[in-house]
Amino acid sequence: MLLPQNSSIFAARSIGRTADFLSTMSYSTLDVRQVGSTLVVELNRPEKLNALNRAMLDELEQLFSDAVLPVRYRAVIITGKGKAFAAGADIAELAACTGETGADFARRGQRVFARIESLPIPVIAAVGGYALGGGCELAMACHLRFAATTAVFGQPEVKLGIIPGYGGTQRLARLIGVARAVEFMLTGEHISAQRAYELGLVNRVFEPEKLLDETLAFCATLEMLPPRAIEAILRATYGVASARYDIEAEQFGLLCGTDDFREGTRAFLEKRTPTFTGR
Ligand code: COA
Repeated sequence: MLLPQNSSIFAARSIGRTADFLSTMSYSTLDVRQVGSTLVVELNRPEKLNALNRAMLDELEQLFSDAVLPVRYRAVIITGKGKAFAAGADIAELAACTGETGADFARRGQRVFARIESLPIPVIAAVGGYALGGGCELAMACHLRFAATTAVFGQPEVKLGIIPGYGGTQRLARLIGVARAVEFMLTGEHISAQRAYELGLVNRVFEPEKLLDETLAFCATLEMLPPRAIEAILRATYGVASARYDIEAEQFGLLCGTDDFREGTRAFLEKRTPTFTGR
């Protein structure tokens, strides 16, 4: 995905344009705070395992679209409140998708995650628990992933009759290789932090009580590095948009029109095992 091609961040930083960013922000699904020069964004719907609903996507988009953010901070950490990082797209909302609306549902999430990936300062996912479906995709849209030993990763969409729709088919293959990514998506299996580390999905693994402190300490080390070089690394690494994201959204949309999708999402909400028919 494309990064904004300008150097306004450094110009703004150098003239001290660091308005009181936090005081202008108020969110219902995010808890946002500053630690040193790092912005810590906590997904805050623990009763629903931080499932990504429309309100949370709206708030993430608003936050990551704010031009002041990379001026004011040197790094961002995204983490989750409670026992999950995020357990995926909100299935209660997802279940309402149809063959007509499904592709737009996917594009919406793709757009928000592309905003995160295109930030010109490092964004690190600190994953303490479940990172499933859209939650795993959100972690993959971050530049680095640090995990607690308690973290669990998975792309279980196939069990709902759909596919990862927020860029997961592309980012997963890029991170762990096509064959492993396809196997991971076909099985919908949950894997441990250690396995995710072995696959290359996760950069570092820590004991749960150390996860945030270690991630903050890493961010502090970035402060000593030249910010222009950091931005250039991110631009060079993420600067190419791919048409394959469109294919993902189209396929996601088509699947939202199937009986198997309706059965898969209903079965989750009714807490029963689905029966798929191939229709
Ligand atoms: N969307 C909406 N609600 C979700 C959710 C999601 N993706 N994941 C969890 N929840 C809700 C549950 O419905 C439950 O709500 P309730 O208490 O009102 O019934 C609450 O969060 C706690 O989840 P629960 O399933 O009871 O916790 P658990 O510890 O037994 O299981 C998981 C945890 C993560 C294994 C299980 O919640 C799960 O499989 N979630 C869906 C993962 C998924 O398929 N994600 C991809 C979506 S595209």
